[in-house]
Amino acid sequence: MKETVIRSLPPGHPWGQSVQYYHTLDSTNTQAKLQARAGAPEGTVLIAGAQTGGRGRLGRQFSSPEGLGLYLSLILRPNCDPSDLMHLTCAAGVATAEAVAAATGLQPGIKWTNDLVIGTRKLGGILTELGLDPATGKVDFAVIGIGINCLQTETDFPSELQNMACSLKMHTPVPCTPAMLAPKLIDALYRMNSRLFFEKAAIMAAFRGSCITLGKEISILKGDSIRRGTASGIDDSGGLLVTFSDGTVETVASGEVSIRGMYGYV
Ligand code: BTN
Repeated sequence: MKETVIRSLPPGHPWGQSVQYYHTLDSTNTQAKLQARAGAPEGTVLIAGAQTGGRGRLGRQFSSPEGLGLYLSLILRPNCDPSDLMHLTCAAGVATAEAVAAATGLQPGIKWTNDLVIGTRKLGGILTELGLDPATGKVDFAVIGIGINCLQTETDFPSELQNMACSLKMHTPVPCTPAMLAPKLIDALYRMNSRLFFEKAAIMAAFRGSCITLGKEISILKGDSIRRGTASGIDDSGGLLVTFSDGTVETVASGEVSIRGMYGYV
């Protein structure tokens, strides 16, 4: 896998020598954070054939069966304040959608803020984690973890996900393996990282263009409370603007947002 990925990157790719492959890991994000704390450089990429403890947002599990999905984490070392990185997950989403399009011709949408979707089902997700320097409060490292379902059929998913998850294989006649998608993703992330700060407006415009949440009736779950509104915009930090029935508009920065008709939600 590692050799196939490196061979498929453009020759002399700056991140080509930093790709690590593991047959099985608990979580590529957990391992990437350990390596980042130990000083691993920007561009370090960890790929696992399977994860025994794949993690998603909001403490959820990410189903990571052997050989069927791409499970990849990237270490970045942007020298900035955490507040300057609010758009990082959006940028990673745009790069991942581009990589899927380059590998398969499919054009996935992005469900705010970190899910890749095709139609009404989840194709994959992104988990971004930051490590801060306690002395300065600045970002020491960022780990971007990406999981994409490649070769699963419906019964490969846990039963509770079977009506809400999909894979590339369910949408393409020619199977796209994790090894075929990985080099496209590494290169798309490399190009995204090189424009992360000075092309923020263009990145966010691309995110808005792919974001299927915009214009939809949504439910926002925070703690025990559920509020309903319309997703009316996305600000340049990736915050979701929600318009409520009384005309007020609020920015939602985190939390669970459900869209009627998606993931089996009626
Ligand atoms: C989500 O669905 O909320 C995000 C899922 C992110 C999954 C990827 S797989 C590679 C990396 N390692 C993890 O444990 N999580 C991310």
